[in-house]
Amino acid sequence: MSSNTAELKIDGKSYELPVIEGTENEKAVDISKLRAQSGYITLDQGFKNTGSTTSSITFLNGEEGVLRYRGYSIEELTAKSNFLEVAYLLIYGELPNKAEFDHFQENIIHHTLVHEDIKKILDGFPSSAHPMGVLSSLVCSLTAFYPESLDPNRSKEEVDLSIIRIMAKIPTFASWVYKHKIGHPVNYPDNSLDYCSNFLKMMFALPAEKYQPDPAVTDALDKLLILHADHEQNCSTSTVRIVGSSQASLYASISAGINALWGPLHGGANQAVIEMLESIKKDGGDVKKYIDKAKDKDDPFRLMGFGHRVYKNFDPRAKIIKKNADEVLSGLGIKDPVLDIAKGLEEAALQDDYFVERKLYPNVDFYSGIIYRAMGIPTDMFTVMFALGRLPGWIAQWKEMRENKEPIGRPRQIYTGYNERKIER
Ligand code: SDX
Repeated sequence: MSSNTAELKIDGKSYELPVIEGTENEKAVDISKLRAQSGYITLDQGFKNTGSTTSSITFLNGEEGVLRYRGYSIEELTAKSNFLEVAYLLIYGELPNKAEFDHFQENIIHHTLVHEDIKKILDGFPSSAHPMGVLSSLVCSLTAFYPESLDPNRSKEEVDLSIIRIMAKIPTFASWVYKHKIGHPVNYPDNSLDYCSNFLKMMFALPAEKYQPDPAVTDALDKLLILHADHEQNCSTSTVRIVGSSQASLYASISAGINALWGPLHGGANQAVIEMLESIKKDGGDVKKYIDKAKDKDDPFRLMGFGHRVYKNFDPRAKIIKKNADEVLSGLGIKDPVLDIAKGLEEAALQDDYFVERKLYPNVDFYSGIIYRAMGIPTDMFTVMFALGRLPGWIAQWKEMRENKEPIGRPRQIYTGYNERKIER
């Protein structure tokens, strides 16, 4: 709380509203009693200026390009930690000691297998189905295989078990979705491998072929998952929170979050970026033509992977991923022409008033697809990769909302339809 208050004058009356201040000096006017006092609500489409909660999980400063998980910077976490340790940090609030990490990892390893009946659900989807729709269905099916998970008010141990199960099974789900799509037999988890190596092996191992994950690829994937792990109250996380606020289960809430992430304005942008770069390449690679199209209000074309609701200087994740893209591609000896097109677009946009005035910079999705592609991951699986990374953030935010006993989310509206009228006949 802050000793500060805000005064609002409406219809000649003044209302004093409390001001709250966070640990990073962010300030908010608390309007929770505004309607009761004044009969007024506030309106803010897209919640561009509205806070939905207080949270101690992730801090980002859009003006300075800062992103920290539980106080640790993503620069330090990608350099010194690993995805599972970061998942633990986000979910439980502190970096684990060795015993805590080993127990967490052991627990996850022993829940990677999924019920054989999942294959029947998988087989019900045509191979043309978009992987995100299949993934959200498989995640939601966990409510059927673990009906005890339906009650989010069960003991801490039982909630922890639900958390372990989905952390462990989502890489298996993701790889099975991919294998189903390409008509290959699925692979079972290899519990002798770490989280990322196991995922890559399930994705790419072929029967009767020895598959050895490339450590450089495993390391690059681990970093990418860390960079996607949480991002405070973004669209999909807000979805997870609002679904969970009705006391729907963790799995139902995560499944809803996967569907929100799917949209091309959100996590689906990483797929849209590569499709955009490919079409620019096919059209001769004329970067200026596409910069002009992005600026033309009459042209529906948007520079996908550019712009952000919060980052108004640069997305710190994009900086790290761009550097990784160079390293991974040169390490794998891959020359991908779309990387040069992406760099050309970034260079041209950052010198163009339209983008500079609107503070549009590359976001997390601009370069990530180039790395996924170099790993052999197909374009329509890119947003599944985003979901894999974002899962611990969704879990942490759902858990915080539940532990804080937050009320069911139910925004107000301003009605603009017909006044009362009678059926005349
Ligand atoms: C993610 O919120 C998060 O934290 C999300 C995320 C996470 O980790 O969870 O960071 C992940 O979703 C990243 C964003 C991925 N989406 C894209 O790359 C899609 C392309 N970007 C945009 O559609 C847009 O920038 C958004 C959706 C990201 C942000 O939209 P806003 O904040 O609602 O901004 P806006 O659409 O109101 O745009 C403001 C102006 C407009 O021009 P004017 O009306 O002022 O003239 O900027 C223009 C827009 O037309 N603009 C773009 C543009 N993005 C915004 N113009 C061309 N190309 C773009 N990419």
